[in-house]
Amino acid sequence: MTTHESLTSAELHDRPAASDNAPAAPDGPTLSNGGLNIRGLHKVLGGRTIIDNLDLAVKEGELVSLLGPSGCGKTTTLRMIAGFLEPDSGSIEVEGQEVSHLGAENRPSAMVFQNYALWPHMTVAKNVGFPLKLRKMSKPAIQAKVDAVLELVSLLHHKDSKPARISGGEQQRVALARALVQEPKLLLLDEPLSNLDAKLRVKVREDIRNIQQELGITTVIVTHDQEEAMSMSDRIAVMNAGRIEQYSTPEALYARPETEFVATFIGSMNRVEGRFHDGVITAGPDILGIRPEDVILGDSPFAGALPATVERVVPRGHFQEVYLRRADAQLRSFVTGEIMRPGQQTYAAIRKAMTFRDGRLVAEAGAAR
Ligand SMILES: Nc1ncnc2c1ncn2[C@@H]1O[C@H](COP(=O)(O)OP(=O)(O)O)[C@@H](O)[C@H]1O
Ligand SMILES: [Mg+2]
Repeated sequence: MTTHESLTSAELHDRPAASDNAPAAPDGPTLSNGGLNIRGLHKVLGGRTIIDNLDLAVKEGELVSLLGPSGCGKTTTLRMIAGFLEPDSGSIEVEGQEVSHLGAENRPSAMVFQNYALWPHMTVAKNVGFPLKLRKMSKPAIQAKVDAVLELVSLLHHKDSKPARISGGEQQRVALARALVQEPKLLLLDEPLSNLDAKLRVKVREDIRNIQQELGITTVIVTHDQEEAMSMSDRIAVMNAGRIEQYSTPEALYARPETEFVATFIGSMNRVEGRFHDGVITAGPDILGIRPEDVILGDSPFAGALPATVERVVPRGHFQEVYLRRADAQLRSFVTGEIMRPGQQTYAAIRKAMTFRDGRLVAEAGAAR
C-alpha cells in the first residue's frame, strides 16, 4: 500500500458517515448504478424451491463466477438473469434498470449457451450477425460489426465456414462473438468450457478473460469447475442448493472459507473429526479441515512433528499426493522435490487447522475466533 492510500483510508476512518456509509441501503445489499444487482430472487420448479431468496451484486466491469455442484441452480439463475425463465419473485437490475419484466430480446444482456446453439446451416458470419438482423440493422452495418467482432475472437478467416467445419474451441468463440456483437452491458456464459478438452480449456479461459477485460464488460460465468472459477474471476459466488454460501475473491474463499461446504469445494482438504490443540488432534465432535499444504513433512524430528508412515503415494506431475498415518489421524500432504515411497517413515506436523461446527467455521489453527 502506498503512503497516499494509507492517508486516504485514515481520513475515511475519521469520517465514516460521510462517504463510506452514504450509498448503503438500510437493509439489503448496497445499491449501485452500474453492473448487475439481484435481490430476493426466488424460483420453485416441480414443487421444489430451486433458487432460494438469492442476492447477488456484480460491479460494473467485474467478472463473477457462479460456482457450485451440478444441480445447485446455476443455470436456472443465469436463465432468469437473461430473461429465458421468469422468477417467482425478486428483482434484477442491469446498470440501474429493472429488467425482470422484460423479455430476453429486450434486455441489455447476451447469453452464451452451454451447447453454443449455433445454426448448422448458417455460416459463421451469418450466425454472428443474426441478432443484429433481428434488430433490422442494415446489411453493411451488420457486416462491419461482424467483421470487427470476428477479428476480436481471431476467427475472421473462418467467416464463410459452417459450424460443423470448425473445431470445438472455434465454435465456442463463434458463440461468444454472437453474444458480443450485440454490445451487451452484461455477458452471461453457461459452462463455456465444458465441451472442450483439458488443454484447450486453459487457452480458451485465458481468451475469454482477456476479451472481457479489454472490453470491460460486466460478466457472469456459470461453472462447476473450481479451478476454472479461481483462474478467471474477480469474485466467486459459491452456490449450494439454491443459495449462495459465500461470495468473495478467489484468494479469500481459499484462505478464509466460512463454511465446511466452501472449504471442501474450493481446493483440497483433509476432513477429520476431532479437536485441534497444540498441533495434535484429539477426540472431539467438531470437523477439522486441514489443507494438504499445511501438513509439513521432514525426515527427522522437528517442532510440532509426530512420527508418521507413508501409506500411499499418488504422482500428480510436478508434485506427489502423499497419504500418511499419524498416531492421531490419517493425513494427506503435497510433496515436491523429494520422491516418497509407501512404507517410508517420516515426521509430520500440522501447521494449521480450520474447525467447523454445524458446517460453519468457528476457529482457525485451534484458537477461537
Ligand atoms: N423445468 C424444470 N422443472 C423441474 N425441475 C427443474 C427444471 N429445471 C431445472 N430443474 C431442477 O433444478 C435444479 C437446478 O438445475 P440447474 O439450474 O440446471 O442446475 P445447475 O446448472 O447448477 O447444474 C435441478 O435439480 C434440476 O433438476
Ligand atoms: Mg447448469
